[in-house]
Amino acid sequence: MNPGSRPPRSTVRDIERYASLFAERTQVMKSSAMRDLMALTEREDVISLAGGLPDTSTFPPESYASLMRTVATECCARALQYGPTEGFSRLKRCIAEVMSAEGMEIDPDDLLVTTGGQQVIDLVCKTLIDPGDVIVAEAPTYPGAVPTFCAYQADVVQVTMDRDGMRIDQLLETLDELDRTGRRPKFIYTVPNFHNPAGVTMSLQRRRDLVRIAAERELLVLEDNPYGLLRYEGTPLPTLRSLDGGEFVIYASTFSKILSPGVRLGWTTAPPPVLQKMSIGKQSADLCSSSVSQCFVAAYFDSGPWHEYVRSLIEIYRRRRDVMLDSLAEHFPREAEWTHPEGGLFIWATMPAYIDTNDLLARALEEHVAFVPGRAAFVDGRGGSAMRLNFSGVGEDDIREGIRRIGEVVREQVDLYDTLTGARAAAMPQTGADPVTAHRQRSAGGEEREPLQEDAELAKVLRLPAKRKRAGSG
Ligand SMILES: Cc1ncc(COP(=O)(O)O)c(C=O)c1O
Repeated sequence: MNPGSRPPRSTVRDIERYASLFAERTQVMKSSAMRDLMALTEREDVISLAGGLPDTSTFPPESYASLMRTVATECCARALQYGPTEGFSRLKRCIAEVMSAEGMEIDPDDLLVTTGGQQVIDLVCKTLIDPGDVIVAEAPTYPGAVPTFCAYQADVVQVTMDRDGMRIDQLLETLDELDRTGRRPKFIYTVPNFHNPAGVTMSLQRRRDLVRIAAERELLVLEDNPYGLLRYEGTPLPTLRSLDGGEFVIYASTFSKILSPGVRLGWTTAPPPVLQKMSIGKQSADLCSSSVSQCFVAAYFDSGPWHEYVRSLIEIYRRRRDVMLDSLAEHFPREAEWTHPEGGLFIWATMPAYIDTNDLLARALEEHVAFVPGRAAFVDGRGGSAMRLNFSGVGEDDIREGIRRIGEVVREQVDLYDTLTGARAAAMPQTGADPVTAHRQRSAGGEEREPLQEDAELAKVLRLPAKRKRAGSG
């Protein structure tokens, strides 16, 4: 090797040499599909509807510069120093203000500041999960939680959703079934508002039912609420935390979607014994969250009404959501369905069962457009004909063009299927596999059809060209 040149990448032999040292958990650890897809979002020639990115270009650079100047002049040494594990008091007061905007009154001392909402999921698992323990999650679930659950070797049981969120009847069935085998879930994971990836919101009745069931059975619920303040229509609903009063609900949220994911700041509040263990878990993870970021966010809250920026985001994202919904109606074939989110950043679209969205992504990338394949949101291989579409990260023209391109590759598959079956099959999405109730009517006749017998066989024939580049797969 020339001096200064980069070392060669790992060979299979290198990996074998280290493999005997790897912990057992590395066998079940998997890369996040979204992390893999992030590489694509940085490529300028790809319209990425894959990320969960807020549009940070909407934050005025002059405000950023002025806030950083304030941090430099008023608390430079503090910003550059370690901080307390639980977070700066000033920041915790800002968080209490945000929670109050969602109808929750909280004592700042009951908060733990975290490195993004993602760290809350990690700390909850670190605190509660031994290998083989059960986590109940929604189907689909947040794709970024899947690698965390896997890394802690949890047994994840996913409960069907519809347009009102997690199906409580199915939850009860699942809990009873687990009970019969002597298993008690360590927690129930839910994203009640503008679900990532499903785009649906849990109804008030289901929220009440979930909180009641948790109390009756003494089960913990992890309520993950990054999007609650990004509502574009309808009436805000009470959080599970406010319905439960904090007895069985662990609450998680973040500044990522209302200010910036770059600051990497989130927070949690939990029943005190759980919060205490999470705080100890955080000490070993990262000692404390970034002091620079905490000072920046505190200066931001001091500088004026933070709601105004959130309001401006709501206006932008509402328009983008509408553009995406209109574009889907225009460009996707009638065989596809999708959800109609009242807020948040995502639409979940379901294709006919014979389309595999992992393969479709390879084809879409040839057209320079990306989405998250549905399997990333399941632990059991379901979601194969679904995709998550993000409408916050790119402008309206790119949304139109991106959806047009994806629509075209979906149509290609539908036409090929029709040619192979010899008829225009009324092939609607296989709702048993991807059950989130969709926005579009099922069919002109309103009939939901059983998947064709030969769908599975045809799916093999319909496989798209082999992936040329490493595209994030579920
Ligand atoms: C449901 C959900 N939870 C947690 C996170 C992680 O967010 P953060 O940037 O705060 O770590 C996200 C990010 O997209 C999310 O959608």
